[in-house]
Amino acid sequence: MIVLAPMAGITDGAFCRDISREGFDMVTLGGYNVDPPTIQAGREILSRGRPEFLVEEELLIPYLEDQVKIIQEEFGGFISVNLRSVTTEPIVEVSKIRGVQVVEVNAHCRQKEITNLGCGQAMLRDVSRLEEYLREITQKAKSMVSVKIRANVPGVNEVEVAEAVERSGANYIHVDAMLPGSNSADLNIIRSIKENTSVFIIGNNSIKDVVSAHEMLNAGADGISIARAAIGGSLNFELSRI
Ligand SMILES: Cc1cc2nc3c(=O)[nH]c(=O)nc-3n(C[C@H](O)[C@H](O)[C@H](O)COP(=O)(O)O)c2cc1C
Repeated sequence: MIVLAPMAGITDGAFCRDISREGFDMVTLGGYNVDPPTIQAGREILSRGRPEFLVEEELLIPYLEDQVKIIQEEFGGFISVNLRSVTTEPIVEVSKIRGVQVVEVNAHCRQKEITNLGCGQAMLRDVSRLEEYLREITQKAKSMVSVKIRANVPGVNEVEVAEAVERSGANYIHVDAMLPGSNSADLNIIRSIKENTSVFIIGNNSIKDVVSAHEMLNAGADGISIARAAIGGSLNFELSRI
C-alpha cells in the first residue's frame, strides 16, 4: 500500500485529488486540529508562520465532507484524515463522515503548542494513556483507525508504543522513522516493530525514489508513505515501479 502522508496546510482535498493521479492507494487529509484547545494551538502555530489548516470547530465536519467529495471527483482509493485532539469524541465524529475510511491519530506533532496539551508526540510518553485513548476510538469509530508516530523521541520506546497500538485494536501504525541528523530513515525501528508486533506498519521518512521505497519495505513495512517528495504536487519517480 502506498500512502500520501499528511502535510498540514498543504494536503487538502484538491491537493490529495490531484496527487492521487500518481497512483497512491491512500491519501491523507490534514493534519487538522479538531477540538477547542488544539484549534487554539493551531492558531498560535499559524501566527508564527508555520503552515496549518485552521477550521473552526462548528465548521469542521461540513468542511471535511467537502474535502472528501473533492477527492472523490477522481480518486476511488482510501481516504484518511490526520487529526489532533485532546479528547477522543471529535475523532469518532470524523470517522462517521461518509467516504472516510481511516481516522489517523496524530501522535507525531512536535510543535510546542500541541505537545503542551499532551497531544502530538507527547502522547508517546504515556503508553497506557495512549492505549486507553486509542481503545476508546477503536471501539466507537465507524472507520478504520491509524496512529501516526515519530521515531527517536527521547524517552520513548517505539516497540512498547507499537504493542500498545496493537492491543488497542487500531488497524495501522504509521511510523515516521525519523533519524535526527540524517537524510535516511531509521530502518532498525521498523525492523524492531515488525519483529515484536503484527500490526500493519506504514513506513515513512525520506522515501524519494524506488530504492528508498524498497529499503523501507525490506525492513518490514507493510506499506509506505510519502510526504516531502510529493510536496510540489507531483513525484519524480513512478509508484508503479515499487
Ligand atoms: C510541511 C509539512 C507538514 C506536515 N504536517 C504533518 C501533519 O499535520 N501531521 C503529521 O502526522 N505529519 C505531518 N508531517 C510529517 C510528514 O507526514 C512525514 O511524516 C515527514 O515529512 C517525513 O516523511 P517524508 O520524508 O516523506 O517527508 C508534515 C511534514 C511537512 C513537510
